Amino acid sequence: MNQADSRTDNLPVAGSPKNSDVRRMFGEITPAYDFLNRFFSGTFDRRWRSLAARAATEGLNPCARILDLATGTGDLAMDLAKAAPAARVHGADFTRPMLAHAAEKFGRGRFEWIEADAMALPFENDFFDALTIAFGLRNMDDRPGALAEMARVVRPGGRVAILEFGRPRNRIWRALFELYLFQIMPRVGRLVSGSMAYLYLAQSIRNFWSADELSAKMRAAGLGSVTATPLMGGIVYLHVGVKEPAS
Ligand SMILES: C[S@@+](CC[C@H](N)C(=O)[O-])C[C@H]1O[C@@H](n2cnc3c(N)ncnc32)[C@H](O)[C@@H]1O
Repeated sequence: MNQADSRTDNLPVAGSPKNSDVRRMFGEITPAYDFLNRFFSGTFDRRWRSLAARAATEGLNPCARILDLATGTGDLAMDLAKAAPAARVHGADFTRPMLAHAAEKFGRGRFEWIEADAMALPFENDFFDALTIAFGLRNMDDRPGALAEMARVVRPGGRVAILEFGRPRNRIWRALFELYLFQIMPRVGRLVSGSMAYLYLAQSIRNFWSADELSAKMRAAGLGSVTATPLMGGIVYLHVGVKEPAS
């Protein structure tokens, strides 16, 4: 086994990741996670999350209950708290170091930080008025199952806002993005975090559904009026769907 193999053989397999591998990987990169998010996106990640928070909370009852799923270090949960100051914001994730970091950054007063797997959420049906998830869905081993859980815990008429990486339609932009993903991100990521996780993250972006596929899967999970907004020329998409009333 060469050195590169020994560094990558404990990474999740992009496209069909195992939960335990994903959890371990995110646990390893927690200390460097926020810095690398800002660095790799040129701080655009802040704007993307704030757009998702505004889309999810538009027209919401001020005392709403909102879930930020796969909350990681909690940045989108914080944007939700800013967009809906009287709302109760829950941040759920299955990687304990990520959640601990979120609680350390933002405290517990405005938030409930919950250790939970997206495939089996510990909430009753129709519990939340809105739900968000940013850059988490593609790491899940049963994405249709996770979408069904999201639709289950949101009330009819509630919004689900999903931020995920996409594939730019413009060929030149897409080629530049891939170059950045595969040549720059893994090298800088390894230097800063000491982990090859950023190679897995690049592969998982390439293996994720297209924006049209994600829209179709959201509809299949019971979310209607689905919109897909490309951000930064399609590098990222914001999908929003509304839970349909039970027929
Ligand atoms: C790329 S990070 C995104 C974190 C945060 N939402 C953000 O915008 O920075 C993906 C997160 O998804 C979480 N995650 C992946 N699969 C999960 C699952 N099945 N259940 C709960 N959390 C999961 C990971 O632990 C990690 O914190």
